[in-house]
Amino acid sequence: MHSLDAFARQKLAGLDARSLRRRLIPTTRGEQARAEREGRRLVSFSCNDYLGLSCDPRVVAAAQDATARFGAGAGASRLVTGNHPALVALETRLAAHKGKEAALVFGSGYLANIGITPALVGPGDLVLIDALGHSCLFTGARLSGAEIVIFAHNDADDLARILSERRGQAARALVLTERVFSMDGDRAPLDAVLDIAARHDAWTLVDDAHGLGVVEPGTRAPLEMGTLSKSLGSYGGYLCGSRAVVDLLTSRARSFVYTTGLPPACAAAALAALDIVETEPHRAARPLALARRFTRRLGLPEAQSPIVPVQVGEAEAALALSQALEARGYLVVAIRPPTVAAGTARLRVAFSAAHREEDVDGLADALRDLQPASCEPVSPA
Ligand SMILES: Cc1ncc(COP(=O)(O)O)c(C=O)c1O
Repeated sequence: MHSLDAFARQKLAGLDARSLRRRLIPTTRGEQARAEREGRRLVSFSCNDYLGLSCDPRVVAAAQDATARFGAGAGASRLVTGNHPALVALETRLAAHKGKEAALVFGSGYLANIGITPALVGPGDLVLIDALGHSCLFTGARLSGAEIVIFAHNDADDLARILSERRGQAARALVLTERVFSMDGDRAPLDAVLDIAARHDAWTLVDDAHGLGVVEPGTRAPLEMGTLSKSLGSYGGYLCGSRAVVDLLTSRARSFVYTTGLPPACAAAALAALDIVETEPHRAARPLALARRFTRRLGLPEAQSPIVPVQVGEAEAALALSQALEARGYLVVAIRPPTVAAGTARLRVAFSAAHREEDVDGLADALRDLQPASCEPVSPA
């Protein structure tokens, strides 16, 4: 055990030296995008609860009711006895919302991505990933054993070039991209990506983790995955696609087959949130409108989504800016490597329908005051 602890301590010292060590801080989230940390009440710009639904009384009540009716846990994997009615209802609604034939709910978005790709491609196949794709897209690709080629971020021409050169040598090809990029907030040129992929008989999986509920529903992508944990305010992941694909994944996605089903509370909360998304469309527009108010006030390029990166550069400087904002009552967590590339540490500002205009203006003014130089656009890597 001595060598194990010595190893851990040595690694931690290395992380400390580069300001890359991560720590858990107890946080109590509440309504109106407020959060309490270490006795301080803060306005949070670091939650992915874009519509403020995680604390909505209707969503909370749905979770409580499902727990009372079906129990706290699913009790087994879905293929054994864990396929409770809340999951079945949620899948039907997700498929309809996305305009797809079927949906499959996974334990999380991460589990979905590490299960989908290996169930569809393997050795001898090709996976093409946008350079800024989420970690779990890369992990799924690695687990598949297929050859991985990274294309330049949001560069459809680069994708076309790679497919022209490489597609002929692979039995199957799968393109992985995001609809709204999680750390940059920009949107993929989906029409171009889908057309190029189709021209080369490549399939496309779009990760819609940050798009559901805040940008228009549904894309032409044959495979669309996402999470229940962001604008739906719950927990879990999903894939929407054709009936045949969903049936295949039900039998072959290892991160679906060999794990316990999502708890009833999570499924019912997501379903109640989806109801609100569909019946109160005015909510969806608000996070983006607030993000644009912020970018206008700071003279940044217009926000394309509720996520706005404020580029800082080095991890230490990003941490210092985050701490200075916290002292003024704003919670904006610093995002550091390896989540983003070295030298591009930033504050990732996430807007929610639950924010007030004065929250947004106050943060913008505090940022300009503290670090005017950081109020410049992040150029995609
Ligand atoms: C783009 C993207 N995909 C997938 C995930 C994973 O989703 P989950 O949090 O449900 O595991 C995330 C989560 O941060 C994400 O940002």
